[in-house]
Amino acid sequence: MSAVLITNIGELTTNVAAPGDPCGTLHDAAVLIEGDRIAWVGLAADAPRPDRTEIVDAGGRAVLPGFVDSHTHLVFGGDRAEEFEARMTGTPYAAGGIRRTVAATRAAGDDELRRRLAGFVAELHAQGTTTFEVKTGYGLTVRDEARLARLAAEVTPEVTFLGAHVVPAEYADRRDDYVELVCGAMLEACAPHSRWIDVFCERGAFAPDETRRILAAGIAHGLEARVHGNQLGEGEGVGIAVGLGAASVDHCTYLDDADIAALAGSETVATLLPGVEFSTRQPYPDARRLLDAGVTVAIASDCNPGSSFTSSMPLMIALAVREMGMTTAEAVWAATAGGARALRRDDVGAVAPGMRADLVLLEAPTRTHLAYRPGVPLIAGVFRGGSRL
Ligand code: NIG
Ligand code: FE
Repeated sequence: MSAVLITNIGELTTNVAAPGDPCGTLHDAAVLIEGDRIAWVGLAADAPRPDRTEIVDAGGRAVLPGFVDSHTHLVFGGDRAEEFEARMTGTPYAAGGIRRTVAATRAAGDDELRRRLAGFVAELHAQGTTTFEVKTGYGLTVRDEARLARLAAEVTPEVTFLGAHVVPAEYADRRDDYVELVCGAMLEACAPHSRWIDVFCERGAFAPDETRRILAAGIAHGLEARVHGNQLGEGEGVGIAVGLGAASVDHCTYLDDADIAALAGSETVATLLPGVEFSTRQPYPDARRLLDAGVTVAIASDCNPGSSFTSSMPLMIALAVREMGMTTAEAVWAATAGGARALRRDDVGAVAPGMRADLVLLEAPTRTHLAYRPGVPLIAGVFRGGSRL
């Protein structure tokens, strides 16, 4: 089995919680990788060096777990740059724009979508993301949703069926029929390629009773629930997600006290997507309020052509710190261990023996530089499953 020892690590974020330090920070550390797993973590001076170990000298740089981006929409055709330009001169973001991407996606062939998806995956890896989720939601016919789920499954096991993204134009006057289709033939066609089911529960998308019905159908089919909720205004998304034991409720921009209390007493992660607020000029969610109430918080990119066309987890960390009241340690935890919780994964998001060997080396001495030097490419190296990308 191949062995790699990364040594001379200035600051290692393990996410193995220590008193007062959820990031489990070690200094002058080393990590031994055997095959695709982490075999040993500790002080560099104590590191084992099995025969034929390749030595990687981190040169005092910071090392952290690979980012876990638990919310993306990466399979789509076209883009919506004009909509972005209009928004920057005052046109508000609305869910209706999704239909433009649906038209472009339906028109794109499998090879084109596959090529674009591969490009996004390369983009994610280059920015330190080693685990990511991908949603469907720009097909909205049985054939197209199944196609998107199948293509997404080629690049990740974390595929989410989002047939309930918006009601497509051809069903505008018979939305009940569309909900029926999502719960029936579309779910049937997508479930074999998917782990998760999601609904965009929002004014302009799906109502609370529709959301409950669609999620229940998915759960009955063996999928696990996650929800887009409380993005554009207060609503029932959080309550529905917590009530169903969903892994995550994403956006959480507009929350009332009852939402916070429900999340705090639950297993449901609040996934914040600050790229959306950055790109739509909405107010940012109040991460401080969630954290102080004891809610588990993740941050993710929501990379999609409408509300957040960025795949950069370092940017999300910078925004979380600058705009949402998080410390750098909280933001880095949320982008790694938090994302892993949101995907109910216990093999990624931390640096400990037995975990998948997913690591990021920074061109910086500490993780603080991720927020302190926004926009600067600080990713000096990435290991995924023990292989250097
Ligand atoms: O998470 N909110 C719903 N879906 C995406 C936006 C999709 C789009 O605008 O194309 C989101 O923000
Ligand atoms: Fe989204």
